[in-house]
Amino acid sequence: MPEPLFNIEKVHYYYDNRHIGLKGITMQIQSGESLAILGANGSGKSTLLKIMAGLAFPSEGSVTALGRPLTQDTLSSEFAAFFRSKVGFVFQEADLQIFCPTVWDEIAFGPIQLDIPKDEVKQRVEDVLDMLDIRPLKDRQPHHLSGGEKKKVAIGSVLSLNPDILLLDEPTNGLDPRTQVWLFELLDELRRLKKTVIMATHDLSIVEDLAGRVVVLSEEHNIVSDGKPAEILRDKDMLLRVNIIHEHTHRHGDIVHIHSHGPFARHDEH
Ligand SMILES: Nc1ncnc2c1ncn2[C@@H]1O[C@H](COP(=O)(O)OP(=O)(O)O)[C@@H](O)[C@H]1O
Ligand SMILES: [Mg+2]
Repeated sequence: MPEPLFNIEKVHYYYDNRHIGLKGITMQIQSGESLAILGANGSGKSTLLKIMAGLAFPSEGSVTALGRPLTQDTLSSEFAAFFRSKVGFVFQEADLQIFCPTVWDEIAFGPIQLDIPKDEVKQRVEDVLDMLDIRPLKDRQPHHLSGGEKKKVAIGSVLSLNPDILLLDEPTNGLDPRTQVWLFELLDELRRLKKTVIMATHDLSIVEDLAGRVVVLSEEHNIVSDGKPAEILRDKDMLLRVNIIHEHTHRHGDIVHIHSHGPFARHDEH
C-alpha cells in the first residue's frame, strides 16, 4: 500500500470543549479514491470534512495529509500554500463560498491568490466556464443567481485551482434534477481524471453510482461501517440503526409487516 493521502487516527472533536462532533475516527484514504461519507444529520460529516480541509483541528488524535501532519502549525508554514493548492473544499452552502462582484472574478479568485500568472488564470477561468457550461453567467453577480447556478459557481471557484483532492459537503442538496444529473456527470469526469473525491451525504441514492467506497457515521459520531457501496446498501439493519432509512408498519388485510423506506426501498414480497 502506498502512503495514504489522509491518515486519520483516533480523532475526537468537541465544539466549545463540550458538544461532541466526532468520537474516535480512524481511517485512511488513498489517492484516487472516490469516497462517500454517509450519515444522518448531526452525525459529524461536515466536521470530518472540515478537519480534512484543515479548517478545524482535532481535539484529540491526529491527521496527516499529503505526508505531513495537518496542524495549526504546519498550516502556518510553507506547507499551507502547497496544501491549499492540492485540496479544494466545496461548502454545503454556496452562499458561504461566493463573495466576488462577478462570476468571472469568483472563479479567478483562487488562482490569483496562488500567484498564478495572469494568462494562465484567464485560461483556467475560460476552461471552467466551458466545463460547467456557465459562460452566459460570467458577468453576473453571483449572489443574484439561482441556487443551482450558485452551486455551479462555487464548484467552479474550486475547480479553477485544479485541486487533486476535492471535498464536497452535501453536493446534491438543493439542486434541481437537471443540475443533479450535471453534477453526477462532473463527478464521473473527475473520477476519470484520477482526482480524489470525498463527499459527505445523507442521500443514499447517490452513493451507489458515485462512490467506490462508503464510510458510515452513526449518530454517536463514530464509524460503524466501511466498505463497497453494494455491501453497505445491503445492510438494512445498519442503515436503519444509523437513521439513513426508516421503518414503517403497514397493514395489508390481516398481515402487518414492517419494511424500510429509503430511496431504494421496495415493497417486501408477501
Ligand atoms: N458550531 C457548532 N457548535 C456546537 N456544536 C456543533 C457545531 N457544529 C456542529 N455541531 C454538532 O456536532 C455534531 C456533528 O455536526 P456536523 O458535523 O455538522 O454533522 P453533519 O454534517 O453530519 O450533519 C452535531 O451534533 C452538531 O450539533
Ligand atoms: Mg453537514
